[in-house]
Amino acid sequence: MSQLSLPTSRRPGPDDVPQLGWGILGTGWIAERFCTALRASTTQRIAAVASRSQQRAEEFGAAMGAERSHGSLDAMLADPAVDVVYVATPHPNHHADALRVVAAGKHVLVEKPMALNAQQAREVAAAAQAAGVFCAEALWTLFLPKFDVVRQLVTSGDLGEILGVQADQGEWFDAGHRILDPELAGGAMLDLGTYPVMFATWLLGQPDEVRAVGARASSGVMGSVSMSLRYPSGAQAALQTSCLVELPNVGCISGTRGMVQFDRKFYQPGGFTYLDRASGTTLRYDEEAIEHAGLFHEALEVARCIGEGRTQTPLRPLGDTISYLDVMDEVRDQVGDRFVME
Ligand SMILES: NC(=O)c1ccc[n+]([C@@H]2O[C@H](COP(=O)([O-])OP(=O)(O)OC[C@H]3O[C@@H](n4cnc5c(N)ncnc54)[C@H](OP(=O)(O)O)[C@@H]3O)[C@@H](O)[C@H]2O)c1
Repeated sequence: MSQLSLPTSRRPGPDDVPQLGWGILGTGWIAERFCTALRASTTQRIAAVASRSQQRAEEFGAAMGAERSHGSLDAMLADPAVDVVYVATPHPNHHADALRVVAAGKHVLVEKPMALNAQQAREVAAAAQAAGVFCAEALWTLFLPKFDVVRQLVTSGDLGEILGVQADQGEWFDAGHRILDPELAGGAMLDLGTYPVMFATWLLGQPDEVRAVGARASSGVMGSVSMSLRYPSGAQAALQTSCLVELPNVGCISGTRGMVQFDRKFYQPGGFTYLDRASGTTLRYDEEAIEHAGLFHEALEVARCIGEGRTQTPLRPLGDTISYLDVMDEVRDQVGDRFVME
């Protein structure tokens, strides 16, 4: 990096990748946003949607411009127009749904978290690798242009040695939301804690010590969790998540030579400020804060990788998914956050 400018993002554009036929599993909140982003910003095809109900599939398929609508995952897996399935069901379904997609020989992009725990993620990763199909966790943050700029600051050494990471993700939800439902592996950790834990492990890898404290919501799920991670280098990460209150939703990376401070919400499209410690220079990176309209970047990365014959993306290798779930498992053990179906 010159003193005057930041690196530029290397993320592909819509015409840089092959057009795939996407099959969308689940017709809820994130499936709608993913389809909308795909249609607005890519040339990817929504080949099919699948729901537990044929009627719901047809309604959602019509609204999303899907070519076909199926009343089950099996019916969609038998559809030759589907190259890759986007799994957008609740967390407890991810493991079984992903295994079924892989067994049918289709590529798969699984909403985060890829599975309830690291063991389940290992099984999905092993099955995908054995089948020779592409598999990734849809941790969309890592596919955003701003993260590619930060990736370059980290790998070039411009930030120096990273010794501090701070991140949090917290939102308020009303009582009917699935995040408060113990039957759907609710609680802050899997929906929201995924982001700060991903952020710390992406930058620092596996900690040698994890300390966590938690507080339950009235429904019995784990409502808020604070985590401290320590690394052999002396690096530390301070992370927090809550499904009971709004948190700042900020992320910060402190290196011996510089600091990156993301605008809120750090895990969505948006800007950051880079401070070069020695010169005192402050640089701004800005991208439009388009919220979930930015989901198309992960779809382009999947298409790029499949077009190149890859079975993983270097932006979110399966090993990284497994190792952050190892940390999530440790945190959940410490705070007593065990799911009824585990
Ligand atoms: N990347 C992100 O920013 C982001 C944001 C939100 C959520 N997510 C992830 O996406 C996943 C889905 O979240 P969501 O908010 O979209 O959930 P949602 O609105 O409840 O939608 C989930 C969909 O899955 C299907 N489904 C299958 N089995 C189900 C069951 N037992 N109970 C309820 N629905 C079931 C339903 O579709 P049918 O009725 O048509 O079968 C439902 O519409 C979660 O794992 C979450 O972590 C990611």
